[in-house]
Parts: sequence; C-alpha cells; structure tokens
Amino acid sequence: MISYPNVFVFDHPLIKHKVSILRDKNTGMKEFRELIEEITTIMTYESMRDVKLEAVEVETPLEKTVQWRVPEESIAIVPILRAGLGMVNGVHKVFPTARVGHIGMYRDEATLEPHEYYCKLPDGIESKTVFLVDPMLATGGSACDALAALKKRGVRHIKFMAIIAAPQGIEAVAKAHPDVPIYISTVDRCLNENGYILPGLGDAGDRLFGTK
Ligand code: PRP
Ligand code: URA
Repeated sequence: MISYPNVFVFDHPLIKHKVSILRDKNTGMKEFRELIEEITTIMTYESMRDVKLEAVEVETPLEKTVQWRVPEESIAIVPILRAGLGMVNGVHKVFPTARVGHIGMYRDEATLEPHEYYCKLPDGIESKTVFLVDPMLATGGSACDALAALKKRGVRHIKFMAIIAAPQGIEAVAKAHPDVPIYISTVDRCLNENGYILPGLGDAGDRLFGTK
C-alpha cells in the first residue's frame, strides 16, 4: 500500500463507479471525455480542503454579513498535453476564472523517457496555486519533468492530480517532489513491458481525442 505524506488517494464510491466505466473498452469517446471531466471535478473539491479563504462582506436581502470566498485569480490550471486537456473543464467547473497554461510532454515509445516540446504559462503564475493535471501517472517521468518545469519558472504552490496511477509512478513523483501534494483517484497494479498501466484504461490521449 502507498504511504507517502504528500500522496492522497481518494476512496470515494462515486469515483470508483465512474472509473469502472472509464476503463471499459466499450466506453466511447464522448462518454470517456465526460467521465474524465466529472471525476476531475470531484477530485478538485476533495483537494481544496486546505484552500486559504478571504473574508468578504455580503449583503443578503436581510442584512450585511461577513462570509468566506476563494480569492479571485488565485488558481491556475496546467494540463500536461495531450491527455491533461481532458481534465481542464473539470477544474473550470469549480474555478471558472482560472487561467490555463500548457506543458507539452510526450513519452518516447521505446525508452519511455519524457520530452518537453511546449510550455506557455499565464503571466503571474508564480503567485497562484497551480493544478497540474494528467489522467495517467505511469513511470512518473512526465509528471516529474512537468513539475520541474513549473518550479524552474517560479511556481511555488502546485497540486498534482492524476486519475489512474501505477505504484512506481507515485513513488517517483512523491520522492522527487516531496513538497507537492499528489492526488490520485485510483492506484493500479503495475506497468506492462510497454509502460502501460494495468489494468488501466489504455491510451488516455487516444481515447479522449479519437486518434486511434
Ligand atoms: C501519457 C499520459 C502522461 C504520460 C504518463 O502521455 O497522458 O502524460 O503518458 O506516462 P509516464 O508517467 O510514464 O511519463 P503520452 O506521452 O502518451 O502523450 P499524449 O498525452 O500526447 O498521448
Ligand atoms: N499513458 C496512457 O495514456 N496510458 C497508460 O497506461 C500509460 C501512459
């Protein structure tokens, strides 16, 4: 069983239900996309328990009161291209004004080494809490490099969210980035010889975008 102080594995029955449909090879592109989005929204709620709120004055129809809100503009989303794109709307459901940056990474199919091919981040990202999102955490190479890329550009508060993870990927990211909370919906058994997660769901990017 995974046990790192910065790793949080959700044990939510609704997530289990949705992940079981996501895995099914007969689930089509539209439903797959919708499920990724819905699971991400649930994970976003769960991962924001430590968010710092600010006091605001609100006038109800009856009186003035002091209430608590998430500060505007304090959240940004960075998907790891391509498959992370599928999670952006799920975070936007909770934080509709969050700016979006993009990091492009691909895994070399032979070596499984990640390669960064694109990075465009919103101005002022250094002061925001960044949700780095990717549905799949396999060897952990892509996530480790994406986290390093964000840190190199001055980002200090990062939450990493992945839907399905292999134990070795979790270990790699937890050890390389002990300051980053890692939120996982489901921990799978292992990787196969091609670096695919078992039982997994196949290639998330291909299933999201219909490329195969
Ligand atoms: C997938 C996935 C992750 C990465 C995980 O992307 O979306 O980014 O693999 O593997 P790792 O933990 O071993 O690095 P892929 O490289 O297939 O690119 P794609 O999203 O463009 O399909
Ligand atoms: N990337 C995917 O999309 N699926 C896997 O199982 C591993 C990496």
